[in-house]
Amino acid sequence: TFSIFKMQQFFIVFLVSICSYTSALGSTKVFELGDSFLDVKNEGIWFVKCFAPWCAHCKKLEPVWKQVAQFLGPQGFRVGRIDCTRFPNVCSEINVTGYPQIMLFKGDEVVTYNGDRNRESIIDFGLRVAGPPVRILRDPADFKDVARTYDNFFTYLGDRQGDLWDKYEAAAKKYLAFNYFFAASPSCAEQKIKLKKYPAVAVYKDGRFQLYDESNQIKAEALRSSEANSESGDEGTSLNHWVNKERFSRFVKVTAGNFSQVARSGKLLVLAVLEENKIGEMTASMKVFRRMMEEVSKMSSEKYSNKYQFGWVGNPDLINPIVMERIIPPSLIVIDPKNEVHYTSGDLPEKLTEEAVLLFLTNIEEGTIQAEGGSGLFTRIQRTYFQARISLEDMWRGNPILTAVLFGLPVGFFILICYSICCSDIMDADDDEDTHEKKD
Ligand SMILES: *[C@@H]1O[C@H](CO)[C@@H](O)[C@H](O)[C@H]1NC(C)=O
Ligand SMILES: *[C@@H]1O[C@H](CO)[C@@H](O)[C@H](O)[C@H]1NC(C)=O
Repeated sequence: TFSIFKMQQFFIVFLVSICSYTSALGSTKVFELGDSFLDVKNEGIWFVKCFAPWCAHCKKLEPVWKQVAQFLGPQGFRVGRIDCTRFPNVCSEINVTGYPQIMLFKGDEVVTYNGDRNRESIIDFGLRVAGPPVRILRDPADFKDVARTYDNFFTYLGDRQGDLWDKYEAAAKKYLAFNYFFAASPSCAEQKIKLKKYPAVAVYKDGRFQLYDESNQIKAEALRSSEANSESGDEGTSLNHWVNKERFSRFVKVTAGNFSQVARSGKLLVLAVLEENKIGEMTASMKVFRRMMEEVSKMSSEKYSNKYQFGWVGNPDLINPIVMERIIPPSLIVIDPKNEVHYTSGDLPEKLTEEAVLLFLTNIEEGTIQAEGGSGLFTRIQRTYFQARISLEDMWRGNPILTAVLFGLPVGFFILICYSICCSDIMDADDDEDTHEKKD
């Protein structure tokens, strides 16, 4: 028995040493951060969730955040969280504006995450942003690998110096939160792209490469800025403009997390409004509608890719506040984010064929269809009213008793107050009479 005991001891020591070894490699737990975070935030890579205990979205993120720590901890990330109600000075120092806010600290750089709060999207963001803005590919096999792995990325081809390279690096820094940026020698990419001259920049999407043409881009911008209400935004160089315009595939899924990004592409959004269930499935008719819209995006890609960004949403709640009514999916909507207006065809979904949608888009372009919405005061009031109504309705559907109590209670109190005001008059009167009687 002694030897067994010895062996057990040995085994435990062995286990403990393994555990401490792996924890030295990288902790898989979430660090609880406080004031001292400000001293260490520039050291290594920190991935931090800023939260408040009362915030429901933060609670929902909690298990996801643990998984993120388990995955990224061993890869050299330090994943932590800060309770902003306990350490408000830390949160104001790092510019936290809402809860939960996910931020990645890399040296003196800080990047805030704005996408959907699921494990995959967050990890993908972390891995991309923690690396260098431009990833260098050294041989043709690497280049092939990248083209196989990612369905959407940018690449620079040529010597890494000069004007175009500087602009490319700047664009990579600006858009790293959303896209991958690579660089390779032209010979590396030979099998995939044939170049007449380099350096060159290309985007890979929808299964093919498209080259950046600086002179064309500048011409297009000159044309646009000569139009009346031009607003070039804050994109900076022409390359930035082009990257911003080209960084989405032809037909994308749009969610609450990335709607604002897609809206910033400077194009009109042509969206199929569909409804997915909790596990991301949808009915056959929804799928047919989505396929039809995807076809339209292909058919019109030559003519319209500069003007329209096609996509679909899996939840009408994302679009309802824009049109200020409950959309019945499947449905079609065209949104002009710049002017805050939208167009609806009014046709039944069965009537919306590829040809009908193309005609609809042509009519929008020619201005024969009335835009709805806008940013006027009346529309804004209407929108606020609609949102209040929708949330109340949703609350009622979710929990009628609670809603009744919540709204019944103030009404009850009001009646009580009125009643007590009236009654206290009567009681005062009684009191007066009492005193009279006593005097008498
Ligand atoms: C917070 O914002 C200020 C002002 O915009 C900026 O100077 C500072 O660097 C920001 N801090 C962090 C950690 O991003
Ligand atoms: C938006 O987010 C969803 C889910 O996170 C993702 O599937 C989709 O590809 C994203 N769309 C764009 C345009 O980035």
